[in-house]
Amino acid sequence: MDARYADAAEKIVAKLDRDRLLDLGVGADFWHTRAYPEAGVPALAVSDGPSGLRHQRPGARDMADSEPATCFPALATAAATWDPELVERMGAAIGSEARAQGVGVVLGPGLNIKRSPLCGRNFEYFSEDPLLAGTLATSHVRGVQSTGVGSCIKHFAVNSQEYRRFGNDSVVDERTLREIYLRAFEMVVRDARPQMVMSAYVMLNGVYCSDNRHLLRDILRDEWGFDGVVVTDWGGMHDRAAAYEAGCDLAMPGGGTHLQRRAATALDSGTLREGRVRESARRLVALAMAHAGGADPAATDVAANREVARHVAAEGHVLLANDGTLPLAAGARVALIGQMAERPRYQGGGSSHINARRVATMRGLRPGWSYAAGYDARTGRTTRARVEEAVRAAREADVAVVVVGLPEAIESEGYDRADMRLPGGMNRLVAAVAQANPRTVVVLQCGSPVELPWEKDVAAVLCAGLGGEAGAEATVDVLEGAANPSGKLPETWPLHADDAPCAGCWGEPHRQSQYREGVFVGYRYYQTAGVPVAHCFGHGLSYTSFAYGALAVDAASRTASFDVTNVGGVAGAEVAQVYVEPPAGGLPHPRVQLAGFARVELAPGETRRVSVALDRGSLSVWDGAWKLVGGTYQVLVGSSVEDVRLRGALDVAGKGIAAPGKFAGTWYRSLEGRPTEEDFRALLGRPVPSETHHARGTYDETDSLLEMAQTSAACRFVANRIKGSVERQYGDPMDPQCRMSIASSVGCALFGLVNCSGGALPAGVARALLNLANGRAPWHRG
Ligand code: BGC
Repeated sequence: MDARYADAAEKIVAKLDRDRLLDLGVGADFWHTRAYPEAGVPALAVSDGPSGLRHQRPGARDMADSEPATCFPALATAAATWDPELVERMGAAIGSEARAQGVGVVLGPGLNIKRSPLCGRNFEYFSEDPLLAGTLATSHVRGVQSTGVGSCIKHFAVNSQEYRRFGNDSVVDERTLREIYLRAFEMVVRDARPQMVMSAYVMLNGVYCSDNRHLLRDILRDEWGFDGVVVTDWGGMHDRAAAYEAGCDLAMPGGGTHLQRRAATALDSGTLREGRVRESARRLVALAMAHAGGADPAATDVAANREVARHVAAEGHVLLANDGTLPLAAGARVALIGQMAERPRYQGGGSSHINARRVATMRGLRPGWSYAAGYDARTGRTTRARVEEAVRAAREADVAVVVVGLPEAIESEGYDRADMRLPGGMNRLVAAVAQANPRTVVVLQCGSPVELPWEKDVAAVLCAGLGGEAGAEATVDVLEGAANPSGKLPETWPLHADDAPCAGCWGEPHRQSQYREGVFVGYRYYQTAGVPVAHCFGHGLSYTSFAYGALAVDAASRTASFDVTNVGGVAGAEVAQVYVEPPAGGLPHPRVQLAGFARVELAPGETRRVSVALDRGSLSVWDGAWKLVGGTYQVLVGSSVEDVRLRGALDVAGKGIAAPGKFAGTWYRSLEGRPTEEDFRALLGRPVPSETHHARGTYDETDSLLEMAQTSAACRFVANRIKGSVERQYGDPMDPQCRMSIASSVGCALFGLVNCSGGALPAGVARALLNLANGRAPWHRG
């Protein structure tokens, strides 16, 4: 809570009657909290989002209808910079645009851990590694908040899939929760003090995050000392009374009255204490007082923001492979192939979608390069004529630059990807062009890993990520060598999605997501199990080379110091990574963990001594509490998790953790095959909760109209009406906003649909539908 306003908020809240207090706990509309001007309570305006502002005025037609704003690279691309200082500048630029538009709190960043490469929203998250995610998210929040605007970190917590996001139950053991899924949140809360935290839609161990006392009160507030406002994700308030008790202050969006009525009933019956409601109101009033304010157009410098966006995009490019064809030779005749060069994919779909100011295209920037569209950017489909045209262009050029990526409809909030493949048409095109010209460079525009079946046949692969509105400028700079790539993968690119350790217990068709793989997420699994990957965590090439030397590990300060030298002919930056290999024995643990990193810019021939403090969390385990694990650690320094250049040792004083017998003979000791339910039981330390599938007679408010439509004519009718009107509104069922709107309406848990409807779907009507779906009379109670 903002200390400047704590006393004033206390006095104001003391004078509010019960109805006004309860009204305060639910938003006034989609983007504002409630104001009581006569009592001194201003409205707080909030807006997405993490990669630029999506500020919607009243009456906005759809999600894409927002005020123009600078579109920065998606967080997955910003994360590839491994550059906390630059991400802080990006945050500050976003904050300044929020101030200019009168927005008090920015809804972002999202710092969920990438558990599966297929999560539809991975482009919006930083990493599979909590230290990297936590470090960069801390910078983002510091940047935004340096402008006087608040940040709302999201989605707290364990929200690593889009399938059934309003009703999925994430079943996780406490150690995995603390070490992997909460760690980044803990870092940001402690180090950057965000003003707000958004609870996730999902359930954590059977309790919705909005109502989860263990998560929100025991951990977030009591352990980490968070005293700001907890807001639900939009529509995600499950049980208003339980949520107050858990420390969840605000339900968004607003508009309805059913949540207030339920809280009032709970107050009457004594299951909710008025003190909890007042406590929430105090936090909310203090936040609104601190961050309400009019628009100040002079607060931002749009031209400077665009430069920041371009800088982040350039540093976020990851050169995955290069036989020396890049950078392009001066004067080379280039064939530019692929419609994404003309209609770039530069941002993700869903609530982070920005109405960008000025989108650069590669074709627009290089009109002198010959061009062939190659495929349809919206679908990724090609035709024989298009491939032939591209092949002709490639033959007549010195170098073919083929731009491919994930079409918008494949990668968005609201739904997951089905596989890791690019559209088949794009793969066919790349293969044909590579055959026609061995000097084929592939540029990828995507926010998550894709399979590269033609990789060995092409000269270079450059991942441009989702680069924001200036992304194409950055790509051209990198291709031509005006910018030297220095991005590193913030997540592993597996060979296939099925290689991911969560495959089989993630996503469709489960109602439960059993986090069976425990702490073995991303590289922690691949490196420990010895599973080959396409491109490892931390990988990324440069146009120059770096040599490492003279490692010294200081045990007292737990610091690794070493020299990095630019031994090539051009200036460049290296992200030096330090991993630790924990002592053998104890709890099952990954072979290596990231313990720190540093990005160093070096002129040709220059050497710099780099010191990286080893993160205490990477030397600790959660065993009922954080415990520093004593023993001898191997310290590995290098250019990626696999490209280790220096080795040293660190002695950490203290005891090791005894190896618990329950893991003997389980997957967690061998990592062979897949973890079974039996293995998971050992990890959880309790029986695995059974996954109940609902049907007529057992449906409840956590089921969606689509699910109930399977057996209920009434739900089918309503679902079809809603679906039809959404499709008519967008005019194209492939439009990602359309797909997401359908997933978030008819695919949303019934209680969420009521919450989001702003009163249009009254709770009584929803209850009647549920009764009908269960084969009961609509008016049935109980
Ligand atoms: C998303 C949030 C977003 C909110 C408001 C939700 O559907 O999950 O990330 O901030 O909508 O747009």
